[in-house]
Amino acid sequence: MNQSSVIPVIAIDGPTASGKGTVAQRVAERLGFHYLDSGSLYRLAALAAERAGVDLADEPGVASVAGRMDIRFAEGKVWLAGEDVSDEIRSERASQNASLVAALPAVRDALLQRQRDFRQAPGLVGDGRDMGSVVFPDATVKFFLTASVEARAERRTKQLKEKGMSAIMADVVKELRIRDDRDMNRPVAPLKHYPDAYLIDTTDISAATAVEEILGVYQKMP
Ligand code: DC
Repeated sequence: MNQSSVIPVIAIDGPTASGKGTVAQRVAERLGFHYLDSGSLYRLAALAAERAGVDLADEPGVASVAGRMDIRFAEGKVWLAGEDVSDEIRSERASQNASLVAALPAVRDALLQRQRDFRQAPGLVGDGRDMGSVVFPDATVKFFLTASVEARAERRTKQLKEKGMSAIMADVVKELRIRDDRDMNRPVAPLKHYPDAYLIDTTDISAATAVEEILGVYQKMP
């Protein structure tokens, strides 16, 4: 057993706007654990590739950029090559680009070790699509958060509006469906509820309730 595999990991996977980001961050805060927003790495890879003039369909090109991009996470912000890109990587366009590059196996490989490096004492909460299946298969406990498309689109629209971005509910539903379909049907690391992950449906429950549910399960682990 290597040293890092004794550090606890809580894996939280699920589709866009299932509430997993908010829930995972709160769980990490409550436990004093580190937090990995793995989706931001795919968002950053797409942005870094674009800035380097690499076509997003150029798999080796995007993978090479993803493997060496200079990124930093601190104080809730994200930097790419020294520039604060926190808002830029959250646009709808950045979301679609992230989903495109995330379907490329070489890009996923290039980001694998970078994600595992977040496993630091006293523990990690990882949020994404393949935290429990690929990145941390030996996670202490795994969850799959989901919600109806309508509930997720409503949350996503609200988030975009809060950031001052324009958002029309019907367009958001359409974009969510496109992204869900791509994330669930790609051959590598598809978004899927595996039987070893606890299922939490957040359609009718608050983030606070989901947090308590996760902490309750984690604290009962042997
Ligand atoms: O969680 P998010 O919406 O920020 O993720 C952006 C995209 O990245 C999403 O469409 C799927 C992809 N992704 C992935 O394939 N694997 C992960 N572990 C996290 C995100």
